[in-house]
Amino acid sequence: MKKLLILLFLAVLPAAAFAASEHGPKLDPVNIDLNDKASLQRGARIFVNYCLSCHSASYMRYNRMGNDLGISEELVKENLLFAADKVGDLMKAVMPKDDAKLWFGVAPPDLSLIARSRKPAWVYAYLRSFYRDPESHSGWNNVVFPHVAMPHVLYEWQGDQRAVFKKDAHGVDVFEGFELERPGSMSAKDYDAAMRDLTNFLVYLGEPAKLVRYQIGLYVLIFLAVFLVFAYLLKKEYWKDVH
Ligand code: HEC
Repeated sequence: MKKLLILLFLAVLPAAAFAASEHGPKLDPVNIDLNDKASLQRGARIFVNYCLSCHSASYMRYNRMGNDLGISEELVKENLLFAADKVGDLMKAVMPKDDAKLWFGVAPPDLSLIARSRKPAWVYAYLRSFYRDPESHSGWNNVVFPHVAMPHVLYEWQGDQRAVFKKDAHGVDVFEGFELERPGSMSAKDYDAAMRDLTNFLVYLGEPAKLVRYQIGLYVLIFLAVFLVFAYLLKKEYWKDVH
């Protein structure tokens, strides 16, 4: 029995060692707050300006987004409608899928559900983890998505960063941290805040009904609170003469 246990232990050891050496970078938590309308509006602005050229969000219409985020139809038309003609249109990418596939090797995926399939902390980390890599096709690589085909479209904001890797005992590259080689137009703090807004928006995009649900939930609670007062008074009235 003992021998068997030892054997079993030895059998899983390489897997354990592999798992230990394969850990990616730690994902910073991101403060998601769908009640923060200003943040969602800023995120929407970044999204239509910098992401919609390649990615679609094809379950969302411009006017629905405007309604949900408290942006008037005029403002949607003026500020957010670059990739479509009508506010009732779906948010489709500007670039035809076939061309994108030709240029990047893979078609940029629809981002409607990305914050649900990848989780918000991953998306937030992804947007902040691009680094220069002369060996990659686009000139960029990403620590949380190695060999990603997407170029760093926001490098003018973030600047160029270099990823520092160190070999561990098994000769595997382990990510140590970033070094800023050329500063961008934003400070690290401002860039993080902008990426938080964008991630917040992508979470909204994944489940727009959440906003409505929260609101209904609030009304229900207010109703219950008011109802409680009347129920209590009624109970007092009924039991007044019972002793
Ligand atoms: C120039 C075209 C282009 C632009 C602009 C662009 N992307 Fe991408 N993106 C791609 C491509 C191509 C991929 C697929 C990468 C792969 O699978 O290797 C991708 C992948 C992604 C992924 C990972 C999807 C997955 O499979 O998990 C996310 C998240 C993402 N993009 C977010 C964004 C956001 C947010 C923006 C706006 C700031 C943006 N992208 C702008 C081309 C683009």
